[in-house]
Amino acid sequence: MTKLLLETLKGQPGERVPFWFMRQAGRYLSEYKKVRATTKSFMDFCYSPDKATEVTLQPIHRFNMDGAILFADILVVPDGLGQNVWFETGFGPKLDPITTSEGLDTLSLKNFHTKVGNVYETLRRVKAALPSHITLLGFAGAPWTVATYMVAGAGSKDHAAAKYWGYSEPEKFQRLLDILVDATSEYLIKQIDAGADAVQIFDSWSAALPEPMFNKWVIEPTKAIIDKVRAVHPDTPIIGFPRLAGMMYENYITETGVNAVSLDSGIPLGYAAEKLQSKVCVQGNMESQLVVAGGQAMLNEAERILTALSKGPHVFNLGHGFVPETPVENVAVLSKFVHEFRR
Ligand code: CP3
Repeated sequence: MTKLLLETLKGQPGERVPFWFMRQAGRYLSEYKKVRATTKSFMDFCYSPDKATEVTLQPIHRFNMDGAILFADILVVPDGLGQNVWFETGFGPKLDPITTSEGLDTLSLKNFHTKVGNVYETLRRVKAALPSHITLLGFAGAPWTVATYMVAGAGSKDHAAAKYWGYSEPEKFQRLLDILVDATSEYLIKQIDAGADAVQIFDSWSAALPEPMFNKWVIEPTKAIIDKVRAVHPDTPIIGFPRLAGMMYENYITETGVNAVSLDSGIPLGYAAEKLQSKVCVQGNMESQLVVAGGQAMLNEAERILTALSKGPHVFNLGHGFVPETPVENVAVLSKFVHEFRR
């Protein structure tokens, strides 16, 4: 059976606009919270094929999206490389920070696939359970975004620690990005081997880097990953998400060679249609807070997006992810609206 989302990502739109949502599995769903409550450690939860498979499928059962995204986290990669990663309730991710050559020496690909192997097992199980018309999406964080966590040892607002290391010791910071390029390429290749039909590279913190740094820390590592993945899996679409990259979106598309680009909510749609969708499939870009608010405001915005991007390949999605306070009824109404919309 044709996979509408997969075909659209390849630049061949079908009879309607396919949709899925970032963070479609997560805390806004009571059934997610129920399964999540059975495992204390979030990393252990990500590495439990039973539970990760179940929560990957939960939103599909409820809302019938065209895509299921693997349940895991971008911080699986540093964990697989040997960095200590854990999540603290009410705080978020924590890592033993890496800021020296000695720290870099502790990272290794040697046990990577053994450590993260259960993620591949989750993909195999989801693939076996998924109806054949639904696209299975794998994902990874982009090197820059993952590095911001690895260097700071936590999430940060300004990414000062990673920037400081990158500016003061560029060779060492580059070594970290190179390690991440190798690990992330292998990780994505194995995800595709295990059944992912397409993959998304999340660069959530790519905003507000000066142009030379955007080129070196965002575009170059992403291009290197895409080249490596394509050498093995030439037909698997790759979606890039350089969140909040503004004026840099266009170069990102042409330089990295992504098949599709995910738009944050700030990207003007006229511009997206003319300058971005003319090059690749575009995905996005509904503001998450509108789905919290719901009602006519939500539907008006969905219609505006669907109409503005109706001339080319478009995947309906959010501009970022669902927040935990999103009412499930709003997601149901939005899903139905998008499903029934015709250009
Ligand atoms: O449904 C999906 O989108 C698939 C699963 C997924 C998760 N994280 C599950 C998750 C995906 C694709 C991610 C990506 C991710 N993780 C990103 C990139 C996308 C983005 O949101 O910008 C980032 C930056 C992370 C790192 C991360 N993981 C953070 C900052 C947090 C939040 C910590 C908190 O407590 O709010 C997480 C945890 C996380 N990852 C949760 C989920 C559902 C919530 C934690 C829980 O359920 O206990």
